[in-house]
Amino acid sequence: MKTENIKLVYFSATNTTQKIVRHISTQLDGDIKEYNITRQAPEAEVVLDNSDLLIVGMPVYAGRIPAITLPALHQFKGNGTPAIIVCVYGNREYDDALLELKDVVEANGFKVVSAGAFIAQHSIFPQVGTERPDKKDMESITEFAQKSKQIIDSIDGLDTLHEIIPKGNRPYKVPGKLPLQPSGNRKCTACGTCVKQCPAQAIAADTPRKTDKEKCIACGRCIVVCPADARHFGGLLYKVAGRKFVKAHSARKDPEFYF
Ligand SMILES: Cc1cc2nc3c(=O)[nH]c(=O)nc-3n(C[C@H](O)[C@H](O)[C@H](O)COP(=O)(O)O)c2cc1C
Ligand code: SF4
Ligand code: SF4
Repeated sequence: MKTENIKLVYFSATNTTQKIVRHISTQLDGDIKEYNITRQAPEAEVVLDNSDLLIVGMPVYAGRIPAITLPALHQFKGNGTPAIIVCVYGNREYDDALLELKDVVEANGFKVVSAGAFIAQHSIFPQVGTERPDKKDMESITEFAQKSKQIIDSIDGLDTLHEIIPKGNRPYKVPGKLPLQPSGNRKCTACGTCVKQCPAQAIAADTPRKTDKEKCIACGRCIVVCPADARHFGGLLYKVAGRKFVKAHSARKDPEFYF
C-alpha cells in the first residue's frame, strides 16, 4: 500500500505526546498535516480515504485517554483508512488507554495497523520518568515507526491484516477526579497566556493565579506555557502523594509495540 497523506492528530498538554508522534510521522511516507487538538477540535469533520494514513497520539490520564479529547477525536472519519495509534504515559501504567483509542478510531472507520505505548516524564510528578523520552526511547520510537512503515508498504490492502489487540480491559477503568490543580503565585504578570492555552477553560482572565477546581483536568499545560514560571502544583496533599508515587512508580518501564 502507498500512503500519500499523513494526518497527524494529537492532544498534548505538556508536549511529550507531540514530540513522539511527530517523530513517528517523519519516518513514514506522505505529506504531513498536523491537527493539534489540545485546545480545539476541527470545526468540521475531517474525512480520510485509503490513500491517507492517520497517526494519532494521546497521553494517558488515569489509565484512559483524556475524556476531553473525545469530541475532537470523533471528528476524524476513515473509510477503510490505515491508522497508527500511540499512547504516552508517565511510567506508571497505560491500563485501558490504548485499547480505548483503538476502539474509538476503529468505530470511526479506521483500521489499526500498529499500536505503541511509550513513556514520558510524568506531567504531574516530574520526578518520575524524568527527561523521558530519552535517547533509548527515541530509538524505540524510530524502530516502531519503521516497522509500521514496512507493514504498510508490504500489504496490498487492509483486508489481509490481522486485528491488533492492545492490552487493556472492557469495560474500561472508571477514572476518579484528581484532587490536584496547579495555581499561580506572585510571579504572575497577568499576561493571559495560561488563560488562552488552558484546554479546559479553567483559568479566568481577571484572576489568572486561581484555578477553577471543577473544570481543571490537571493537565499541566498552564505550568509549561507560563513565561514567568508562576504556576505550579503545590500543597501538602501534592507533596505526600508525590512521595508515595515516586516510591511506587520509579522503576523504568519500556515501550511496548503491537503489530
Ligand atoms: C490527569 C493526569 C493523569 C495521568 N494519569 C497517568 C496514568 O494513569 N498513568 C501514567 O503512567 N501516567 C499518567 N499521567 C502522566 C501522563 O500520561 C504523561 O505525563 C504524558 O506524557 C503527558 O503527555 P503530554 O506531555 O503530551 O501532555 C497522567 C497525567 C495527567 C495530567
Ligand atoms: S488550569 Fe488545569 S486544565 Fe487548565 S492548563 Fe492548568 S492544569 Fe490544565
Ligand atoms: S501565564 Fe503565568 S504570568 Fe501569564 S497570566 Fe498565567 S500565571 Fe500569570
